[in-house]
Parts: sequence; structure tokens; C-alpha cells
Amino acid sequence: MQTLLALHNIGRWGFVIFGLYAITKCILGLVKNQEYTKSHNLSAVLFVAFTHLQLLLGFILYFGKGWAENFSDMGNAMGNATLRFFTVEHTISMLLAIILIQIGRTKSKKAEDARSKHKKALIFFSIGFIIALAMIPWPFRGEVARALWPSF
Ligand code: HEM
Repeated sequence: MQTLLALHNIGRWGFVIFGLYAITKCILGLVKNQEYTKSHNLSAVLFVAFTHLQLLLGFILYFGKGWAENFSDMGNAMGNATLRFFTVEHTISMLLAIILIQIGRTKSKKAEDARSKHKKALIFFSIGFIIALAMIPWPFRGEVARALWPSF
């Protein structure tokens, strides 16, 4: 489980870096009126791939490390900042962010012209990215803070 937690920690950087890359590609695509090229597609694929990786690892950690068991004593879990954050807040917000990012990908793929492909991806990717960014346990998050990189 510690290895999976370390991967989930590192996977955050893949999510942040490729999220910024995919969003920048959408903005440039719109501003410069670019065609939807292979590089735009690749940036979206990489972002979505890291999103799914985090989802998979998150689920394994959630059930494998016993976070889900806090549901049997929600009163206690809600009264403790760390338990509440990982049992409810982090998980639900990340699920919402991932759903939005996936909707953006699907809508962008289905869109007819390049402009709306860039636009649909930009809107959904940006909202999902901001929600996820806000719910990462950064070192400045007080009680729920976690390290920027795992210690091996
Ligand atoms: C983009 C999506 C996500 C990002 C960027 C992200 C990021 C992180 C980070 C940086 C940590 C701290 C890791 C550490 O302590 O070294 C963490 C912990 C955790 N995450 Fe996520 N996460 C995401 C999605 C999810 C999802 C969807 C779930 C659940 C389904 C989840 C469940 C957890 C749990 C349970 C922990 C605490 C693990 C433990 O200490 O036992 N995460 N997450």
C-alpha cells in the first residue's frame, strides 16, 4: 500500500503538469485559430490518462487502507479534519473533477469543428483542474497536509 500511496503522490505531478499542458494547448488552439492536430489530441490523452491513473490508485487506497470504513462511524469521521478530508472531501471533489474532465474529453472528441473541440476541452478541463487543484493535500493545508514528494 505504501508503494501505491507513493505512486498516487507522484501521479499528482503528472496530473498537474499534463493538465497545464492540455489547457495551454486549448487556449493556443482558440487564440491562434489552430486546427485540432495530433499534438492537441496527445495533450488531452496524457491529461486524461493521469486522471484515470489517480482515480484507480485513489480507489485502491480508499478501500485498501480502510478509509471507507469510516462510514460506519460518520460522527467521529466528520469531527476529525484528516478523516473528514480523505474520507469525504478529497474523494468526492476528485470524483467530480474527474467526471468533468472526462465529459470535456468526450464532448471535445464528438465536436464537429476544431474551434468547438478546443472550446469544450478548455471549459471542462479548466473547471475540473481547478477543483482538483484546490483539493490536493498540499503542504500548506494545515492538518491534512502531505509532502510534495514521497519519502522512500
Ligand atoms: C486528480 C485526482 C487526484 C489527485 C491529484 C490526488 C492527489 C493526492 C495526493 C497528493 C495525496 C497525498 C499522497 C501522500 O500522502 O503521499 C492523496 C491521498 C489520497 N487520495 Fe487522492 N488524488 C486524486 C484522486 C483521488 C480519488 C479519486 C480518490 C478516491 C477514490 C483518492 C483517494 C485518496 C486517499 C484515500 C488518500 C489518502 C491515502 C492514505 O494516506 O492512506 N484520491 N491524493
